[in-house]
Amino acid sequence: MTNLTCRIQSFTEEMTISTQQIIAIAQLFNQEIANGLRGEKSSLKVLPAFLATPTGKEKGQFLALDFGGTNIRVLLMELQQDGQVRIHARRSKPLKDPEGTYDYIRNKVSGEDIFDFIASLIADVIQPDITYYLGHTFSFASRQTGINDAQLIQWEKEFNITGVEGRDINGLLVEALERRGINHVIPKVIINDTVGTLLAAAYGNSHVEIGSICGTGHNTAYLEKKAPLTGQPMIINLESGDFNQLQGTVYDKELDKNSERPGEQGLEKMVGGCYLGELFRLVLLGMINEGLFSMPYGFCEKLSTTVVSTKELSIILGDDYTQLLQIKNWLADKGMEETTLEERLAVKEVAERITQRSARLVAATYIGIITHIDPSLCRKFTIGIDGSLYEKLPGYPRHIKKALAEVLGDKSDLVTLKLTKDGSGMGAAIAVAIVVGA
Ligand code: BGC
Repeated sequence: MTNLTCRIQSFTEEMTISTQQIIAIAQLFNQEIANGLRGEKSSLKVLPAFLATPTGKEKGQFLALDFGGTNIRVLLMELQQDGQVRIHARRSKPLKDPEGTYDYIRNKVSGEDIFDFIASLIADVIQPDITYYLGHTFSFASRQTGINDAQLIQWEKEFNITGVEGRDINGLLVEALERRGINHVIPKVIINDTVGTLLAAAYGNSHVEIGSICGTGHNTAYLEKKAPLTGQPMIINLESGDFNQLQGTVYDKELDKNSERPGEQGLEKMVGGCYLGELFRLVLLGMINEGLFSMPYGFCEKLSTTVVSTKELSIILGDDYTQLLQIKNWLADKGMEETTLEERLAVKEVAERITQRSARLVAATYIGIITHIDPSLCRKFTIGIDGSLYEKLPGYPRHIKKALAEVLGDKSDLVTLKLTKDGSGMGAAIAVAIVVGA
């Protein structure tokens, strides 16, 4: 066996989450939910959303603002009941321009800059003589004191915008709208994207009790039958990306050390699209530096200075061409012109392992939530899931389903995973409709 094959074997062992480990993680996660609900120490924030699920009868036209981890979207939506939605206008822009003309994520921009940017997108969608009720999906951990009041606890997903943490988010939005002379857009609700996804999936299917994002970031919300605040059904945003009961590898530790917030968002750093490419890069770079690839001097300068996106990971995972042609080209682009098939297979294996681990950890948290809601698992569950990993990363949904089946056996048939595309934006409109009683 070659050194590279040996190394891949040991890496596979490090990254494997066995069925027993999934069961153990699910139990820990379940425990953390219970602790959080009781107000005891928990790595899950367990945040009340001040909303329950929709009836499906909500209707009307609303503005939805979706402030995600990658894009800002403004949608003028018409809810037509029972899961039917029409989009009348849409404006979407990345938070970071791929051409490099602006970057609202990492360049230490101010809160005012980003909200002015958002207000300009809203201005593109609205008419002057109509009053709009707006729902805001804000995809960062926020402490809510009411349905329209949320203070950002802290940025995640490597955001670095000054002057927003601890501030009232819709207050900042209103100020930006006023700076533009817009006073006929009235924010009515603010929700997390997992809450939005749950609402969107539940709009057409009353069995949905869980909403999750497997995208740039990761998090899940569920419907708690007896919420601590009211004793009534209420959606709870777990902020599960902060779950911190997992043992990481040396690569996870290195990634964490170099991140904006070391020691935080432990699960998200092993699972989220914001980090998988970086993890992959670190592993590969490590193996190259160990001299396991046929690189001159065992060093790949380009890989040590560029980021690897989840889009690139998707290409690598999806490469089933003879001789792994796409991986060959990708490596050549990184300056590794001459690679052997064994090396290309190793690259694919690294991507596979990182992806599988992510999906299996997510599955473990789903089991933790399901067993919290229904310990004997008698009911049917549908989990609404949105996000680029779930939608686009080859094999991701399959890995989650497989993990669920390993642990739940035949009962895994009771659990349906439902891709809820654009769920976070749609959920904002549904939330407004619930609040204004439309
Ligand atoms: C945020 C969550 C969000 C998730 C998915 C995480 O970084 O903390 O609030 O739901 O990303 O976007």
